[in-house]
Amino acid sequence: MATIYYTASSIDGYIVDDRASLDWLITRNIDADGPFGYRAFSNSVGALVMGATTYEWILANDPDEWQYEQPTWVMTHRPDIVRTGDGVRAFHGDVTELHPLLVQAAAYQDIWVVGGGDVAAQFAAAGLIDEMIVSYAPCTLGTGGRLMPLHTEWVLVESGVNGEFVCARWRKA
Ligand SMILES: NC(=O)c1ccc[n+]([C@@H]2O[C@H](COP(=O)([O-])OP(=O)(O)OC[C@H]3O[C@@H](n4cnc5c(N)ncnc54)[C@H](OP(=O)(O)O)[C@@H]3O)[C@@H](O)[C@H]2O)c1
Repeated sequence: MATIYYTASSIDGYIVDDRASLDWLITRNIDADGPFGYRAFSNSVGALVMGATTYEWILANDPDEWQYEQPTWVMTHRPDIVRTGDGVRAFHGDVTELHPLLVQAAAYQDIWVVGGGDVAAQFAAAGLIDEMIVSYAPCTLGTGGRLMPLHTEWVLVESGVNGEFVCARWRKA
């Protein structure tokens, strides 16, 4: 099992634009069953963690049904934002205290650090991200939320193309 930051980015390293929009991303051609595709990745995942803003974006854009069956934690200082009935848990504090809960819940499957960039950076700063998989959309945004607002070093494991995206997987250096 591995803890993996799996995300999509603009060429210039932003995962969301300054209007909190992902229109530049979700309108693009990508094959969920292709290289680095979402389908195989999500099947490998046993637990998820995301920041409060990402969670609120998902609820706002897909309000009907929670889309993940796996145990999910939302990092937030506002536990009341977490909708009851979906099995989603709130956590606040140090990621080193959360990670063992994720490992246990994942039951030997992978842990998906969904984002955003600051949450991913907290895990990376603690040495807890084993792999990073990024699919780069063919655009620059100039401003927005950063992929990883931290100096980190990685070893390239593989790269490829899926639809309009250039994708790569790195292992922690
Ligand atoms: N391109 C992609 O594939 C992709 C992937 C993921 C996300 N996104 C987008 O990125 C945007 C969100 O990214 P973001 O970096 O702005 O926000 P985020 O990481 O989703 O959420 C940040 C918030 O999480 C809470 N938080 C973070 N660390 C915490 C800790 N240690 N303890 C308690 N609470 C903590 C804080 O919220 P509170 O204090 O208010 O609770 C903080 O403001 C969304 O629009 C989302 O759609 C894009």
